[in-house]
Amino acid sequence: AAAEKGGWSSFMAKEVSEEPDAVANTLRGRIREGHIEIPELDGMDDLLTGIDRILVLACGTAAYAGMVGKYALESWTRVPVDVELAHEFRYRDPVLSPSTLVVSISQSGETMDTLMAVKYARERGAKTLSICNTQGATIPRESDAVVYTHAGPEVAVASTKAFVAQITALYLLALHVARLRGSLSPEQIAENVAELEAIPGKLSRVLETEQDRIEQLAHWMGDTRSVLFLGRNVGYPIAMEGALKLKELAYIHAEGFAAGELKHGPIALIEPGQPVFVIVPSPRAEGEMHRKVISSIEEIRARGARVIAIAEEGDAAVLPLADEVLRIPLAAPMFEPILGVMPLHIFAMGLATAKGLDVDQPRNLAKSVTVE
Ligand code: G6P
Repeated sequence: AAAEKGGWSSFMAKEVSEEPDAVANTLRGRIREGHIEIPELDGMDDLLTGIDRILVLACGTAAYAGMVGKYALESWTRVPVDVELAHEFRYRDPVLSPSTLVVSISQSGETMDTLMAVKYARERGAKTLSICNTQGATIPRESDAVVYTHAGPEVAVASTKAFVAQITALYLLALHVARLRGSLSPEQIAENVAELEAIPGKLSRVLETEQDRIEQLAHWMGDTRSVLFLGRNVGYPIAMEGALKLKELAYIHAEGFAAGELKHGPIALIEPGQPVFVIVPSPRAEGEMHRKVISSIEEIRARGARVIAIAEEGDAAVLPLADEVLRIPLAAPMFEPILGVMPLHIFAMGLATAKGLDVDQPRNLAKSVTVE
């Protein structure tokens, strides 16, 4: 096993370090001269042009990738998108039609809840497309089409590199559908393609500049009993993913919230010393989201929270407000979740390691849950 880890302390450490490659490999062969080509979807142009709804189904980390994907799919294609946990979906008599595209997301392609949801949707006439990391797995075999994330084998139970690859695949799909439907101009597509192509290099930079600091921070926080995560818009699913990883790996109470929801409840949890990670939107994000999240930080800080901000390089507004600032490179706002999640993966791994836990095999969890 030591040899398979290639010198890394754990599979998870290896797989987090492979996040840049996972994105690059998912893009490989699918971008030609500034536009998207997905050979697996050849022959589906009419179908993808004719859909009037997209329903994303997944479990766990894959469902958070789906939630991120919703922002891009809906914004770029103008097709309404819902994201639902696969195990909730098929027990509520959902409405489906032949013009519904069901997109399932699964690293393993074997998660029973997701598989059953796909079968259910297909039997009721929906078209099914699977985003999967494992060649020839059951879910892609049960789907009308598959877009593979070529993240490479993922061994650690908690999903990391597959997550960034899933978001990448969803963005590729969104741009492909946007081109077919004419909902984005060729120039807009080219701009987004350029953003995607820049992600691997930016992820490598996060590893170079922030990894040691994050591990140090995790070490200092080794006896923390509860951590909250705040995000807004595309940062919201990332907040939930950061919390999930901490529960899974470090066995501590962690919760992710939408920053706008703070005043509707979670702010009551803030007491002096409570660590809160905040994923800060780009100052260029629409709807003054940056200013709104900064004011959320002011609110929690006034109540004694210990703020760890994940913010874009050069964003000075966070400096007087945060106890720690973790930096991510500049990107168009839609692409920030792919960069912002990596510090959270490193942090969860670091905290579990500081507690002496096995990050590859957390207690009570399985890599792939093949029972309902
Ligand atoms: C398990 C794993 C998670 C994973 C989820 C979905 O719970 O521990 O890391 O996100 O299953 O797995 P899938 O293979 O369908 O992506």
